[in-house]
Amino acid sequence: MLSIEWTSQEAAGAGHHLLAVAVASSDSGPAIERRFGAPLARAAQAARFRGEPGEKFSFLREHQGEPQQVLLLGTGASAPSAAAVRALAFDAVRAGSAAGVAEVVLDLRALGSQSEPVHFGELVAQGLQLGTYRYDRYLSEAKRKPSTVQRVRVLGEAASGEGTSRGQIVAASVARARDLVNGPANLVTPSYLADVAREIADNLADRGVRLTVLEREDCEKLGMGCYLAVARGSAQRPKFIHLQYTPKGNSKGRVCLVGKGVTFDSGGLSLKPSDAMMDMKMDMGGAAAVLSALEAAAKLGVPWEVHAIVPATENMIGGDAYRLGDVLTASNGKTVEINNTDAEGRLTLADALVYAGKLQPTYLFDFATLTGACIVALGPHCAGVMSRDDELANLFTAASQRVGEEMWRLPLPEPLKEQLKSPIADMRNTGERYGGAITAGLFLSEFTAGQRWVHVDIAGPAMVRKPFGVCDEGGSGFPVATILEFLSRA
Ligand code: BES
Ligand code: MN
Ligand code: ZN
Repeated sequence: MLSIEWTSQEAAGAGHHLLAVAVASSDSGPAIERRFGAPLARAAQAARFRGEPGEKFSFLREHQGEPQQVLLLGTGASAPSAAAVRALAFDAVRAGSAAGVAEVVLDLRALGSQSEPVHFGELVAQGLQLGTYRYDRYLSEAKRKPSTVQRVRVLGEAASGEGTSRGQIVAASVARARDLVNGPANLVTPSYLADVAREIADNLADRGVRLTVLEREDCEKLGMGCYLAVARGSAQRPKFIHLQYTPKGNSKGRVCLVGKGVTFDSGGLSLKPSDAMMDMKMDMGGAAAVLSALEAAAKLGVPWEVHAIVPATENMIGGDAYRLGDVLTASNGKTVEINNTDAEGRLTLADALVYAGKLQPTYLFDFATLTGACIVALGPHCAGVMSRDDELANLFTAASQRVGEEMWRLPLPEPLKEQLKSPIADMRNTGERYGGAITAGLFLSEFTAGQRWVHVDIAGPAMVRKPFGVCDEGGSGFPVATILEFLSRA
């Protein structure tokens, strides 16, 4: 963990450090001149630094007899968004590490006083802490470049410091989710996910966390014919993971978080082409998010009973793999004719949603890297939110905006259900190409009858292909921060 300290007083860093300064576009030139002198103001101007969002300008100077690396970070004319605040803090730590310093001083005074200082402090702490994140497990010692930054002093409203520990707890869980997504499928198997859930439950037993893992035989008894069909092609044993947190005091209700946990998606007999298969270790991004979020929820002591439910399996080919044309029976008795074995996620989720529904949750969510169509619709950084419950969908997307995770609502039009009709079973598992994200949502809705339910398709944002915001290429930990914001405020 970084040591993060907030202060409203100007204080130089000790020894060789990096000074990162937020600069608003309204006051860019004069602010630089006042603080660093006219020559540097001219240099910044020549480099076209105007304090616009995302602009950076760095230089080295001597300050009180020590070398001081200075980084100016543009923040634009108006108050920066939550995503921009996190990114600003992230960039400061990254620059500190690039400069090889142990201490960063981040001057946020240009942002003025905050209407919600604690929340602001939380976002800053998230960004700072995530700035130290690396996935270097498989790099030999010589190739690792762990962050050199150990301490950050933030200049700003001191009250914001109250958000620090929250932000760091959230960031630690985001980092856990990233590790799980970045972990290759030969490491992160269904059993590995169950082991991680065990570790979380053991560490937080005194905080009210406990774990149940259902084996294949247990799932057979519950009639989970859809989930188990997907698992049949794999040499890895399926693990149906149920992690639960019960708050100490009064609880506001029960929230079930179902996460897609396909640790590798080859497509099954509807085999994916090699390029499309390449990233499919990430197909457990939903599982990573719900397990990690539950861990932080327990540490934060959120006032909800929380259940993280993960039907973990691989989707593989093999002599016993499920076939096209097979008819499966889900645990709610509905039958499904398979017309594409690559639409496996919704099959695993069907039984998990039925299982969650039996817990009679106040709110039911699922998070899934479900469809390429959702990435086509909303781009790589935005999740698709589908629900018939306007109030709950609004609560959830409001939480996402507060933490800077992008989400957009898609409709669930009844007429598109037409696409899921089968001549011999209650439904088929896939529709046509157009509306692919929505027909997947409609399929899931067949297993959430009577629930206040929101489906979140995270196929795009679960993994980023090039650095974005507070994330390098790889697993993002999306939408851990939103889930925790929701559980803390709803
Ligand atoms: N895991 C994939 C969805 C996915 C695609 C996630 C790309 C991340 C990036 C899912 O299981 C899948 O294969 N979906 C199919 C559905 C189709 C067969 C109806 C898809 O999107 O092509
Ligand atoms: Mn698939
Ligand atoms: Zn999949």
